[in-house]
Amino acid sequence: MTTPGPDDPASFWNEKFNQTEYRYGTSPNAFVEATLPEKLTAGASVLCVGDGEGRNGVWCAEQGFETTSIEPSSVGAQKIKALAEKRGVEVSVICDRMPSDAVEANRFDAVVLTFIHAPPEIRRQIHSASIEALAPGGLLVLEAFTPAQRENNRPSGGPPSLALLFTPEMLQEDFEELEISQLSEEVVELDEGAGHRGPADVVRLIARKPVAAHK
Ligand SMILES: C[S@@+](CC[C@H](N)C(=O)[O-])C[C@H]1O[C@@H](n2cnc3c(N)ncnc32)[C@H](O)[C@@H]1O
Repeated sequence: MTTPGPDDPASFWNEKFNQTEYRYGTSPNAFVEATLPEKLTAGASVLCVGDGEGRNGVWCAEQGFETTSIEPSSVGAQKIKALAEKRGVEVSVICDRMPSDAVEANRFDAVVLTFIHAPPEIRRQIHSASIEALAPGGLLVLEAFTPAQRENNRPSGGPPSLALLFTPEMLQEDFEELEISQLSEEVVELDEGAGHRGPADVVRLIARKPVAAHK
């Protein structure tokens, strides 16, 4: 197995996404699907970071959210546009990696990150840029694999390198300026295309940017 190239996520993911099938399916991540509708109103602006082939972004647009997806892989970005067109919704697609000058600060009512694994320095940059993108009072929803995913030899997805996996402690530190309402380690049953299928060790985070914070 290869390790995602932190310096060139576009090439790594172009290769993975260069197939007709949607690697993680075309339905939203279950945690995102369960969390967003009860916390956002129609018309809310949502940024899906590393939206891959668009399963979360397209679903967000279908909920009536004004949706932007940022995805470094040009193949992924094209698949997001194709999925949005097929489902008859609008998603604004930025083909870039985070942090990106194309993402406006203090702009989004919600930021979604599912399985955006990266080595520590890049992880911190992605998370800091995600905080910056949030409007005051905005919601951040994140799911990622923990080291237990590898320790338990689970074949349900995630990078092979322990250094790319996330612990609750890392997230507590990265998102310390947010008001965290959930930070939990869980074993969940993934059913997300061929890429994520079966029992999985994940960490789930729900947090809000304080209204007073202006970063
Ligand atoms: C495992 S895939 C998950 C895709 C999508 N979030 C999902 O759950 O279906 C990881 C994604 O992170 C993206 N990615 C990697 N580095 C990134 C960065 N610096 N900024 C934004 N996205 C990044 C990759 O291009 C890839 O689409």
